Formats: sequence, C-alpha cells, structure tokens
Amino acid sequence: MTAVVTGAGRGIGLALAAAFAARGMAAVGTVRGEPPAVAGVEWARLDVAQPASIAAFAAGLGGRPVEILVCNAGIYPDRREWVERGYPAAMWAETFAVNVTGVFLTVQALLANLDAANRPRVGIIASQLGSSTRAAGGSYIYRASKAAVVNLGRNLAADLGPRGIAVGIYHPGWVRTGMGGPAADLDADVAAAGLLARLEALSPATAGRFETWDGETMPF
Ligand SMILES: NC(=O)c1ccc[n+]([C@@H]2O[C@H](COP(=O)([O-])OP(=O)(O)OC[C@H]3O[C@@H](n4cnc5c(N)ncnc54)[C@H](OP(=O)(O)O)[C@@H]3O)[C@@H](O)[C@H]2O)c1
Repeated sequence: MTAVVTGAGRGIGLALAAAFAARGMAAVGTVRGEPPAVAGVEWARLDVAQPASIAAFAAGLGGRPVEILVCNAGIYPDRREWVERGYPAAMWAETFAVNVTGVFLTVQALLANLDAANRPRVGIIASQLGSSTRAAGGSYIYRASKAAVVNLGRNLAADLGPRGIAVGIYHPGWVRTGMGGPAADLDADVAAAGLLARLEALSPATAGRFETWDGETMPF
C-alpha cells in the first residue's frame, strides 16, 4: 500500500508521511529541497507549481499503484497584505499555482496510479479560511485559493467517484507549523493522526465532504 504526500519536508505533510510509514505503508513524501532525515519515508522531488516537475514525479512512480494521495503542499503569503495597497497580481498567480492548479495537475498526473490501486483515495488539504460562510475578511488570496480547492475537490469527487476514486476535503486544524505559527492549537502529529482517521473512513459514499481533522462537518 503506497501513500503519497505532497509538501512533506516539514509541517503537516512531514507528520502525515511519518504517520503513514509508522502504519506500515510505503510512504512517498515529496520535497522541493533536501529531504529531512526521517526513517521509513521514500523521498521524491516535486514542485507542484511546475507542470514539468509533476510530469517527472509521475514518471518516476511508473505504474506503481497509489492507494492514498494527499495534496498537502500549500502557501499562505498574503497574511500581512492590506486591501488598500497589497495583494499584488504575482502573489495571486503564485498562490493559485500551488494551492489550486498544483492540486488539480497532481491528481490528474496520478490518475493511472490511483486507478491501479485497490481502494484509491485522494485527500485535499484545504482550510477553514476557504469556507465562504466564515468570511471574516483579510487574507483574500489564501481564502480564495482554499475556497477554490474545496470546489475543485467536490467536483473531482463527482467525476472520480464512479471510477472508484474517493476524494475528501479537509481542514487540518490550526497547527503549530511554519504556516500556523507557535501559538496554534495542535501539534502536527495530532492533526496528522486525525487526518489519517478521516482518510481511513473515506469511501465513495462519503466522498465530496469537507471535514475537519477530527471529523466535524465544515460548511462550504
Ligand atoms: N498550519 C495550519 O494551521 C493550517 C491550517 C489550515 C490549513 N493548512 C494547510 O495545510 C497544508 C500544510 O500546511 P503547513 O502548516 O504544514 O505549512 P508549512 O509548514 O508552511 O509547509 C508547507 C509545505 O508545502 C510545501 N510547498 C510549498 N510550495 C510548494 C510547491 N510549489 N511545491 C511543492 N511543495 C510546496 C513546502 O515545501 P518547502 O519546504 O519546499 O517550502 C512545505 O513542505 C497547507 O495546504 C496549508 O494551507 C494549514
């Protein structure tokens, strides 16, 4: 059983890859730079904002079946922007390339690997900041990208469900990582354990749901 986690060099992705390996799965973690020294994880290069990098990563997998693909890689560069003068176009483009387009292209590139697996599942790591019912203002780019990836996940669930690939969408909690900061609620390994439980429960019957790491329903 192989699980692939994008953006696994640190943060939630690293905790997820380590948790899959601890469960006895073949865990493939992707990195852009040097991989961390974590036992039991296979490391591969992947920049999800670069279509050629995605193609090379998929080619490296060959025909290997992938039971679980977690699209975790993400960026949040606009937390200190101001509506009057910030949010430059290049920041919109970069964020959507990673948080939205990168998710779609990664799933697309690994479809044959998912099709070859016994019980294929895709987990998309979104955010509660992408919930349009929780619009507190600010972080326009990150919020819009995460709202878009929730929508993407729901439509992928509709298209891929009939071929047996279940797609779930998750808010990982507020997690102590480079992105979440030191004041966040959860350790990455606690969030990862919850996300693993969600992915274990994910099936074509539950696909398309937007849930928190601990199983609560998130409003769209
Ligand atoms: N932490 C939270 O509280 C929180 C809350 C809600 C949602 N999330 C979501 O959870 C996911 C993981 O967040 P995190 O807190 O673990 O963030 P993080 O500590 O900042 O780690 C982000 C990861 O994404 C990778 N990444 C960034 N751009 C990439 C690209 N172009 N191609 C491939 N990998 C790339 C990074 O790789 P490098 O090391 O190479 O930069 C890193 O491994 C993100 O999607 C985030 O939006 C986090």
